[in-house]
This record gives sequence, C-alpha cells and structure tokens, in this order.
Amino acid sequence: MIELDYRGSNSQVIGNENGLGIAKEFENYKSRIAAIIADLNQRKDKPEQGLQWMNLGYSEETLWYVKEYAALVQGRFDNVLVLGIGGSALGGLAVTHALLHPYWNFLSKEERNNFPKIYFLDNIDPDEVSSLSDILDLKKTLVNVITKSGDTVETMAQFMVLKDRLEKELGDDYRKNIIATTDKRTGILRQIAEQEGYKTFFIPDDVGGRFSVFSAVGLLPFALVGIDIDEITNGVKDMDLALKNTNITENIAAQNALIHFLLDVKCGKNQIVLMPYSNRLKYVPDWFIQLCAESLGKSVTLDGVKTHVGPTPLKAVGVTDQHSQLQLFNEGPNNKVIDFIRIKDFDTHVEIPQIFQYTGIGYLSGKSINELMNAEAESTKATLCDFSRPTVTISMPKVDGYHIAQLLYMLEVQIAIEGALYNINAFDQPSAEQTKNYTYALMGRVGYEESAKSLKEKMSLV
Ligand code: PA5
Repeated sequence: MIELDYRGSNSQVIGNENGLGIAKEFENYKSRIAAIIADLNQRKDKPEQGLQWMNLGYSEETLWYVKEYAALVQGRFDNVLVLGIGGSALGGLAVTHALLHPYWNFLSKEERNNFPKIYFLDNIDPDEVSSLSDILDLKKTLVNVITKSGDTVETMAQFMVLKDRLEKELGDDYRKNIIATTDKRTGILRQIAEQEGYKTFFIPDDVGGRFSVFSAVGLLPFALVGIDIDEITNGVKDMDLALKNTNITENIAAQNALIHFLLDVKCGKNQIVLMPYSNRLKYVPDWFIQLCAESLGKSVTLDGVKTHVGPTPLKAVGVTDQHSQLQLFNEGPNNKVIDFIRIKDFDTHVEIPQIFQYTGIGYLSGKSINELMNAEAESTKATLCDFSRPTVTISMPKVDGYHIAQLLYMLEVQIAIEGALYNINAFDQPSAEQTKNYTYALMGRVGYEESAKSLKEKMSLV
C-alpha cells in the first residue's frame, strides 16, 4: 500500500508558527473526521450526492464491456486519439504516461506488442489541431471523444473537425473509428452517437469529470493500449477498503486532508505543491490541480454563508524543479505545503560508470542514478525543513497500475474530506460553468442571447 509520512509538518520539527501538533490535532478532530468518513460512505449510493465515483472500482459491468471492446479492436488501429478536456483528459494522460514505456509513441508496433500509440488532445490550439494530420494516418486512428455533459465547446469543436476529416478519408466506414464516452441518456454527444451509430461507453450519474478517471473515461483508453485494468481497479478497491476506516490514525486520506486544512486555516499555508520525484508521474500534479482547484475553490459554504476558500494547487517535478522553483519554496513567502511523491523501487537501476574517478565528479563514479534521485529528494526535504517549510511525503512502492490507482483514489478521498472540513460543496463548479456559458453566448449558441448582450457590455469595460 502507499504510505504517508507527515513528520515534516510537525511543529516539533518546523516550529509552532509553521507546523502543527499533529498527534494532538488528530485527537481533537477524531470524532469530526469519523463522522465525515461515515457520512461519505452512507451517502455514496444515494442519487444526486456527486459521490458515485466512490463505487467505480467495483463496476464489474464496465470492466467487462471495456475489456470486450479492447479485445475486439486489438491490432486494428495504430493510434488512439482522445478528445476531451479537464476531467475527461487529465486522468487518462496522467495514468498512461505513468504506466506505458516513457517513449511509447516512439516505439515500433512490435515493441508496443501491437498496441496503438496514444495521444490526448486537450486544447484547441489551431496549430496543434491541424498538425495532427501530419502525424496520424486517420484510417488507422481510433478517436475516443469523451465528454460527460456532451456539449463542452472545446471537445465538440475538436470532434467536429476530426469527424469531418475521418469521413472525407474513410467514407461511410468512418463510424468504426469513433467511440463516444458520455452520459448514459442525456447530452448532444449521446444524441449524435445514437443517430450516427457510434460505439458508446457511459459515465455513470453523479460522477463529476474530475472524479471520473476510474470509469470508462480512463479505463477504456488504458485497456486500448494494453494496460491491465484489473490491476487498476484492484488498487482502487484495496485503497477504498483502507479509507473506510473512520479512525484518523489509520486513514491516510483523512490525515492528509486534516493536515492541509489546518495548515491553511491555522498557519496560512494556502498553496499546495504536488512534487513527484518521478518523471513518469509528471502529469499527476496536472490531474490533481483540477481535482483540488475545482473541488475546493468555493465562495459559499454549505449553509449559504459567503466565503472564499480553497488552497491553490501547484505543480513541481523532482528533481527538475529544484533548479527552477525550489529557491522560491525555500525563501519566498512561507505559504506553501510541499507534498512529495516518492517511489521506493524504480523499475530500472542505472549505474553511473566508474569513470573520471580522479576529477571533481569522481564521487559519482560507481554510484547509481537511483541513489542520486533519492539523495536529491532527501536534500530538498531537509532544506525545506531548515527554512521551516511544511512537507508531507507520500511513498509508492513502485510505479504500477495497482499503486497509481491507490494514489489517485487516495487523493480523491482526501479532497472529499477536505471539502467537508471547509464546509463547502466539493462536487460542483458553478463559476467554471459561467465561463462555459459566456463562451456559448459569444459563439452564438441559441438560448444564450441575453448572456451575449450583458457580456458585450462587460467586455467594453474590461
Ligand atoms: O470536473 C468537471 O466536471 C469539469 O471540470 C469537466 O471535467 C470539464 O469541464 C469537461 O467537462 P465534460 O466532461 O462535460 O466535457
């Protein structure tokens, strides 16, 4: 199982002003945390609670359909192109980047065991969209369009461009190159998919985009490129069982939630830096940033009281950002918690050859890159401690499907518990929706005429 070490946030280590008396706080919050965990687990099966993501690891039906389809198309396509944005793309990107060969898309088909290359298009940069045709043979490309709402403007615009190109290249057969992952019943993409006869997968009700990675949103792309999705769901289920424990001293998601909440409200640490010491995990912070920012950044409490809460999540990658952001983390405003993610066993061990012994870099000779990575992570933690900066360390035994699933699920539960501590709704995103509505108005969508009028007035002012 993955583990959490929070000693770097203890007041005995970094002082009362910047750290917490963690054992005492666990005791103070024991019953509040137990009540939050019990409440989440009681509400998770009820409709309209936004908590169905807590059941995704157990969906045998999804596993079966995804595996069946992946087996059916195995060997047929050279590329999978995922169209989506936010929660419809970030989890897939984070997990595939972590689990596939680091240079997967550069390997030959044989080296990829006949599985396709994979691309995520999560922006609408016209140069990037149009350049896709330079690298993809569309006849050999399976396009997985993913949108829970079924009408997200960016995803639908990408889809319209790709559908048109596919149809021009493949004629009527283009349908076989499209899979739509969307709501079971509602939304424009569902309607189009049914009219056009695309293969579809669904995102269950009450699963928000940023909590959807273990639905078909993530599982289908994973299976298509040969990732063992049983290993993924086993990781989710085992972590879920562990996190059902209402005792805070035995529940790492609750511990991390409480530590971050208290470091924010008591010590002013309102920025969280997620810093994996692993390039394979470098997109996990991108996924986490959306999860944390959209869930916790809120302006009204559950009781309807005005508030402005939510820590700002940031990304750093060890060791790269030691040479970029660390100076700020050490000496800049003391308003951050650094969350390290450490890997106990890398898949490979790279020896540094015994050369240049008699020069200034002779100390490296005969050591390993692995030792260097660990030494750098330890040094960074120690330096942050010297500057009284709080840290926590999440340790993963290794980067594999079982443990990355545990990591992501643990962070989801952590954010749900933190939302309850801030007393806000962690499962909506009203003002992100507002921007979507303004965009519809600007692009002339029917029904948004009033928004368009007031928007034009605002735009003349700002
Ligand atoms: O968490 C969320 O619900 C959102 O951020 C969505 O992931 C994002 O807006 C994309 O939405 P959709 O999947 O409906 O296209």
